[in-house]
Amino acid sequence: MKKLLFAIGAALLTHSAKADEGMWIPSLIGKNYEEMKRLGLKLSKDDLYNINNASLKDAVVQFGGGCTGEIISSKGLLLTNHHCGYGAIAALSSVEKNYLDNGYWAKSMSEELPAEGITALFLQNISDVTEQINAAVGNAQGDEAAKLMSEGIKKIEKEASNSGKLVANVKEYFNGNQYLLLTYKRYTDVRFVAAPPKSLGKFGGDTDNWMWPRHTSDFSIFRVYAGKDNEPAAYSKDNEPLKPKKYLPVSIKGNQEKDFAMIMGYPGRTNRYEVSYGIDLALAETNPAIVDIRTERLAIMKKHMDADKSVYLKLTSRYASIANYWKYYIGQTEQLKRLKVVEQKKAEEKIFSQWSADKKAGYDNLMQQYEKMYADYKPYAKHATYYSEAFRASCLARIASAVEPLEKVLRTSPVKDSIDKYVKVLKMARSMNMKDYDPATDKDLFAAMSKMYYNNVSKNQLPDIYQEVILGKDDQDASNELFQAYTKYVYKNTCLLDSAEFESFCTKPTLSAIKRDPALQYAISFVRNFESNYLPKIESMNKQKKDLSKQYAKGLMEMKKGQLFYPDANSTMRISYGQVLAYAPQDAVMYKHFTTLDGLLAKYKAGDDEFDLPQDLMQLHQKKDFGQYADADGSIHTCFITNNDITGGNSGSPVINANGELIGCAFDGNWEAMSGDIAFDKKYKRTIVADIRFILFLIDKMGGAHNLITEMDVRK
Ligand code: ARG
Repeated sequence: MKKLLFAIGAALLTHSAKADEGMWIPSLIGKNYEEMKRLGLKLSKDDLYNINNASLKDAVVQFGGGCTGEIISSKGLLLTNHHCGYGAIAALSSVEKNYLDNGYWAKSMSEELPAEGITALFLQNISDVTEQINAAVGNAQGDEAAKLMSEGIKKIEKEASNSGKLVANVKEYFNGNQYLLLTYKRYTDVRFVAAPPKSLGKFGGDTDNWMWPRHTSDFSIFRVYAGKDNEPAAYSKDNEPLKPKKYLPVSIKGNQEKDFAMIMGYPGRTNRYEVSYGIDLALAETNPAIVDIRTERLAIMKKHMDADKSVYLKLTSRYASIANYWKYYIGQTEQLKRLKVVEQKKAEEKIFSQWSADKKAGYDNLMQQYEKMYADYKPYAKHATYYSEAFRASCLARIASAVEPLEKVLRTSPVKDSIDKYVKVLKMARSMNMKDYDPATDKDLFAAMSKMYYNNVSKNQLPDIYQEVILGKDDQDASNELFQAYTKYVYKNTCLLDSAEFESFCTKPTLSAIKRDPALQYAISFVRNFESNYLPKIESMNKQKKDLSKQYAKGLMEMKKGQLFYPDANSTMRISYGQVLAYAPQDAVMYKHFTTLDGLLAKYKAGDDEFDLPQDLMQLHQKKDFGQYADADGSIHTCFITNNDITGGNSGSPVINANGELIGCAFDGNWEAMSGDIAFDKKYKRTIVADIRFILFLIDKMGGAHNLITEMDVRK
């Protein structure tokens, strides 16, 4: 979407002197730079992004596939959010050594713990390959064009990967109007260094999540290791701490409202070109379905997690991510309505259609096409949500789904190579899903989700397994007892859950073994029904949507020639700039731009799931033992807010001041602007940041990990 407009009306936005909205491509920051300087930035363009010399981009990584991290020492120390390290910390924890509950502070490198599966991607280069892609596609249309494009992309990526030394991705920008090639070094030896107890790292839990005022100290620390040549290497005890091209100095000087603030990171996905019809559909079908399903899943998981600490450790990471987007969709729905986003979009669409008609620009039919596309898809939207959110909720259903291609091969062309290939797929699915398999929780999920699917998906769209097996031909009542009994039978008679039985199935997979296995029959019925009847409708809708939104983006850029545009987030590095800024959430209420340790203590509830606090922190607070980390006002500032434009994936991103120093770690967005991924709201949208001084205070004073502080370049 373009930089200005789309919200409440052109007049309000066009003259805004502040930056805030926009996730800009670091290599193309050009035109924004003057505005950044006006807002206070002291760095040069080359300090931000340069491929020959060290620049800020070299200190910012994509962490663990879906988050951001920043390098904060010459020895590869990496800061990210607690909720980004959460899965790794839970996996390293046990009931006896519970780093999640108690925190962890490595006092020397020998105490750093390998975090299996965690990666850090360092961006090397961004280059424009739009012309090559267009040349590869030529005049082809439809499926042929898609095929040529995908071949063209593969070829470019292969060449750029330098025989596998680099990760190379071609990504689409401005809805397919531009293509950029990005190359990365991927480091896989990443070790866990430190984190506060969960009571601080997740303080406020789901109650405070997506809300300001906030007091969470949402950080964790890792270290990137490299081979002797400083290049990526698989874990080895002989690896050495990475010597980074660039690391961020840390400022404990504090900041004032209106100070320049900039964020670099890896925003995942925004949908700011979405049209009113798409939002109507989300409000009517998709969002309520996601929220209903997740409410039920979370209640089931919580019951079992509360009863058993080891189940808690097994499920907590998955639970947290389900809960995070459960609340997200509640907030998004509420704010889309409150901020009248459908009406805003409709007004914008009207202007666009009028412009196109006046200028004979050729986009006159675009909105009608959108309207028809969404209307055609509407009858299946709920089913699609139930398929991904409800059917696939249990580990067993996810594993069993992976047998579907194997069954097809056995039935149609049982060639050894293909059988081996799909057995491997099945084994992989099992090993991935057994990691967080808890039998009692899984059974409850399976029963409840099977029932919910039955009750909510249109009867004429249901898979045959309901009439043929679960309910039987005499159409019994779809009661809880019936689904529980069926579940018991499935779990008792499947080969998937017992390692020995599973191995013997994999050694000689047969159609009759599949037929006998109730879990496999269940999953195959769901997968076939969905993939043959509804998936094609979704795919064709997605294809059409892609075409339409490419045209819409192109048209908007034509209509607003001369204005700065930024592309939707696509999990590539972006820069957002703005200021530290307070806001008014509602009439007569003003929110300050920072919170304090006093405020944190005021929320304390002993023994509570979400608001408990460690005793040592309470003592430090009582003694006012704040070291060098207190603000000029004498208090510890816990969090602050900026008007930067971020989204999921930015979690853990560095918040950087005018001098290029780290002042905080971004970790959330605010409730009043939860519709932000679809429409940025200048008045309300804020980024919530953990103040770096609170983080250093905890590392130093509570964790006693002074070793980490001395490693950093701390500027007073
Ligand atoms: N809302 C935050 C984000 O998406 C995640 C916060 C995690 N905390 C939690 N209580 N689930 O970046």
